[in-house]
Amino acid sequence: MTIRFTHARSRPRRVDALGLGLHSGELDALDDELTLGAGFLEARGFTGAVGQSVVVPGPDATTVVVLGLGPADELDVNEARRVGAAFARAVPRSATGALDVSGALDDEARPGVAHGLVEGVALASYRYRAHKSEPAPSDLTKVTVVSTGGRKVADAVARGAAIAEAVCFTRDLVNEPGGSMTPLEVAKAARAMSRREKLSISVMDEAGIRRERLGGLLGVNRGSEQPPRFVTITYTPEGRSKGTVALVGKGITFDSGGLSIKTGEGMMTMKSDMAGAAAVLGVFHAIRAVAPSVEVVGYLPLTDNMTGPDATRPGDVLRIHNGKTVEVLNTDAEGRLVLADALSLASDTKPDAIVDIATLTGAQMVALGRSIAGVMANDDGWRSQIEAASERSGEKVWPLPLPAEYRKELDSKVADLRNIGAGRFAGAITAGLFLQEFVGEGIPWAHLDIAGPSFGDTDAAELTPGGTGFGVRLLLELLDSFETPAS
Ligand code: BES
Ligand code: MN
Ligand code: ZN
Repeated sequence: MTIRFTHARSRPRRVDALGLGLHSGELDALDDELTLGAGFLEARGFTGAVGQSVVVPGPDATTVVVLGLGPADELDVNEARRVGAAFARAVPRSATGALDVSGALDDEARPGVAHGLVEGVALASYRYRAHKSEPAPSDLTKVTVVSTGGRKVADAVARGAAIAEAVCFTRDLVNEPGGSMTPLEVAKAARAMSRREKLSISVMDEAGIRRERLGGLLGVNRGSEQPPRFVTITYTPEGRSKGTVALVGKGITFDSGGLSIKTGEGMMTMKSDMAGAAAVLGVFHAIRAVAPSVEVVGYLPLTDNMTGPDATRPGDVLRIHNGKTVEVLNTDAEGRLVLADALSLASDTKPDAIVDIATLTGAQMVALGRSIAGVMANDDGWRSQIEAASERSGEKVWPLPLPAEYRKELDSKVADLRNIGAGRFAGAITAGLFLQEFVGEGIPWAHLDIAGPSFGDTDAAELTPGGTGFGVRLLLELLDSFETPAS
């Protein structure tokens, strides 16, 4: 169920749940209104820190939730997201809600805070119930953000709602099992979304993929009964365009490892191996609401990685779209093979910049864990734009280098490249170096390895178990403030 969000300057007359914000150090600010008595909040451990909530019975059967806002000068979109999430988590089974933090804000901070509150409520309320027999419990259906301020705040509420809805769309795609969210089904979902959002889409079938010589995608698909697809989606801005950005998303709908098969344990979460492609689809879901002044083209190579009788054998050589040959020594390093085709296909059109997003390596998780993505780039300016977008979106990234001296690990005795590094070290980096080989000369490119942050068990703040939708917010921020990289 998507929640309907609105903005109002005064509180609705009756709601099931009312959230009232308090800054740390101002704990008696609500005393007139709530008559809680001295020390009521302190006695419950409430200090006003962001993320804290205390439920108190209010008038007219309204549940009142006192929410920590932290120090007044630190409340921004990222803190507000946590406040919104704390509110949603404190009021299960309430249908209507209002969030009033208006006393706490100055003009400049208000839109960002409203945006964050909405995202937090919507994302924390997300549930994946497609395969539950029990009907969903009735949770929030309508939430009003109460705040002074006019059009800017109302727009921020709408924008936050659209982005959160897109993140939930991505979570749904990731959470759907690999046996049902096949390449055909992803393409179908992409088509339906593109129609709703008035975007142009083209879906290449196996014959088309062969014509385009996408040998990496075909090689990975060889062990599968499910036909591959290659989806391209285009957004054209209404007004002046600052250029073209290509978004490439890894779309492995299930990764068994292929003949270099994973362990049972290692496969348990591999329906999420299309989280990069799903994030790109999420970006397009909200792109009309954000309306960036840049043309955006999404490239999604879609297949599963299976062990059928004609599966790619370790030692096989594949020819990628740009003509380079790859010796496949480990069929579980399949993401880079399909991305190689997509990166070189995107490069043919000479975009002003490329970002790829992929659940690419276990090594990324070893290095940075579950909440931070690795970012690698061939252009410092482009990487800086991604780091800035990361800070504004609250989706964390950390840079890893692409040292030329590690490139020789990818030298092959029989082909132009091998698909795995020589040793077990720096696996996220050797994967990045591999991808770099398929980016056209002079095109700024960045690679986001989201193996860790795209999926998990965390059920706290805005995160819910399963797919997280990581990358949608970051990429939308990136597009919204895009400047052609100078270097
Ligand atoms: N999809 C996996 C990476 C992954 C692992 C994502 C765990 C999320 C959680 C990728 O296709 C893979 O298997 N990578 C291998 C590469 C290796 C064979 C060089 C890996 O990281 O083990
Ligand atoms: Mn793999
Ligand atoms: Zn994979």
